Amino acid sequence: MCGIIGYIGRENAAERVIYGLKKLEYRGYDSSGISLVEGSKLLRYRAKGRLENLVSALKNIRLHGTTAIGHTRWATHGKPSDENAHPHTDCTGKITIIHNGIIENYYEIKQMLLKRGHKFTSETDSEIFAHLIEENIGKGVEKAVQAALKKIRGMYAMVILHAGEPDKIVAARKGSPLVLGIGKNENFIASDVPSFLKYTKKAVFLEDDDMAVITKQGYTVLNNGKKVSRKITHIKWNDSQAEKNGYPHYMLKEIGEEPQAFEDTIIGRFDSDRAKILFETVNDARLRKMKNVRIIACGTSYHAAYTTKYLMEKYSGLNVSVDIGSEIRYAAPAVTKDTLIIIISQSGETIDTIAAFNNIKKRAGYSIAVVNVVGSTLSRELDSVIYTHAGPEIGVAATKTFISQLAVLYLLSFHIASLKGRMSRKKIRSALKSLRKIPGYIKEIIKERKKIEKIGAKYSRHRDFLYYGRNINYPIALEGALKLKEISYIHAEGYPAGEMKHGPIALVDDKVPNVFIAPVNALYEKIINNIEEIRARDGIIIAVTNRSNKTMKNYADDVIYIPDIDEDFYPLLAAVPLHLLAYYIGVKKGIDVDKPRNLAKSVTVE
Ligand code: M6R
Repeated sequence: MCGIIGYIGRENAAERVIYGLKKLEYRGYDSSGISLVEGSKLLRYRAKGRLENLVSALKNIRLHGTTAIGHTRWATHGKPSDENAHPHTDCTGKITIIHNGIIENYYEIKQMLLKRGHKFTSETDSEIFAHLIEENIGKGVEKAVQAALKKIRGMYAMVILHAGEPDKIVAARKGSPLVLGIGKNENFIASDVPSFLKYTKKAVFLEDDDMAVITKQGYTVLNNGKKVSRKITHIKWNDSQAEKNGYPHYMLKEIGEEPQAFEDTIIGRFDSDRAKILFETVNDARLRKMKNVRIIACGTSYHAAYTTKYLMEKYSGLNVSVDIGSEIRYAAPAVTKDTLIIIISQSGETIDTIAAFNNIKKRAGYSIAVVNVVGSTLSRELDSVIYTHAGPEIGVAATKTFISQLAVLYLLSFHIASLKGRMSRKKIRSALKSLRKIPGYIKEIIKERKKIEKIGAKYSRHRDFLYYGRNINYPIALEGALKLKEISYIHAEGYPAGEMKHGPIALVDDKVPNVFIAPVNALYEKIINNIEEIRARDGIIIAVTNRSNKTMKNYADDVIYIPDIDEDFYPLLAAVPLHLLAYYIGVKKGIDVDKPRNLAKSVTVE
């Protein structure tokens, strides 16, 4: 995902900013750029592709300015290109901005600005912000930024430099992270700490609606126009710890990023006012014609697919089947010109999934890939691609990418239902309202992770686990079991809870923990019956249930509580404690959870 670094001080700003951009590369990007002020002139350099392209473009240019801002862009609005790379400028070429996030109402603003004579040079949503500032620059950059912020809706981390006021950088945040690095006669503003850690370990994390004015000597933070003080954090990490943001493992860092990944994936893809879901890359006319759906994926992506089957069938009334890539590649599935194919893959390179698609693509009506890695094979092979915006995932176990796959698939299910006339505006509005609550709820679960760590420690010596769920939570039981297997090497299986008596119950004794996903809904009593059957055979019960459930503690040995939410959205929350449980058990067993044995992040062999 995009990265930001800004510098103001006495040193060569371009060198500091390029260093910072190198440290942001891990986030994933497809172009980069830098703006700096020299005298009263604004200089700007941008390049598509790797950061080396920008570095080599600057090779023979002597830059000596001491104020600069730089960006690595991960394309959302507009393809990766020099023109779409940040920083962007206004018509005068004196105001320059970088932006992470999405301006949801950019289109209306752009139309308004075009009428007022502004000229645009990119396809991005971000560029409008430079022009909005230009509208009021006569009042000074701070006031002009404040006025511009009032006009935009969406998520942002913005950093602004004005050649007319080179003694300051202005920054603002809502939803996307920004942190100040406080040095001696020099200060930084960045998306994260590693980009300035070499120069200072003092950091100030900005909060939503904060606007910071940064100078060589200091900084001021305003929130909704009022001056506020924000605590200085003394960072204790070294460089390599910093890449993990202070977390001991990428996996825990990435679970910690699940709320952001979800938010980044849904943002800009709906308009609550009009109760509309918007997928820029999807052809609604073709989608509307589809009469049945086949979803294909492997591993964790298959669990996202399976969850979608329950959801999509319920909301759109279409017949939805799910297939494992390695199976369908050699089968003769029923695919016709009114079949929508959805392929799900984090890496976009899973060979079984690619081969499965190749086996059926000629017969399909329309195909959509849901992929995280930009430019990967699957992102290019299908009729349309919807990117999940989870950012790079380094831990071998898929965690935040699973949550963002679900984010896309929930939106897509509701979108198809609305195209088919099966979901009213009122229902869409209410579904969107629930989706918007998810990041906050996931944060609440992650805050309570110490409790899950304790449960993990208690059961880390057990050799077999069983996971159960019913209906839409059954695939989450599969996901919990897979994750445990992968990173703790403990044997685990997921089952539909109703299937227990048809076999798995033979395994129940006092040594096997049974993990139940137990939402309080119409099937709750059925789950309790299953739990009772296990208790009658001395089995161990771990339950994931609603926070308001006061009775589960009477049945379970350990209970993990999650926020109360409408039952259709339960998987989005229930997966999180199961990711954490697997993580803590793996760590307790001393396993390298980021690189468990025999597994690869991208499975490109059969
Ligand atoms: O890149 P993909 O989503 O296509 O990968 C599919 C599986 O290989 C992947 O989900 C695997 O199961 C992960 N290690 C799960 O944590």
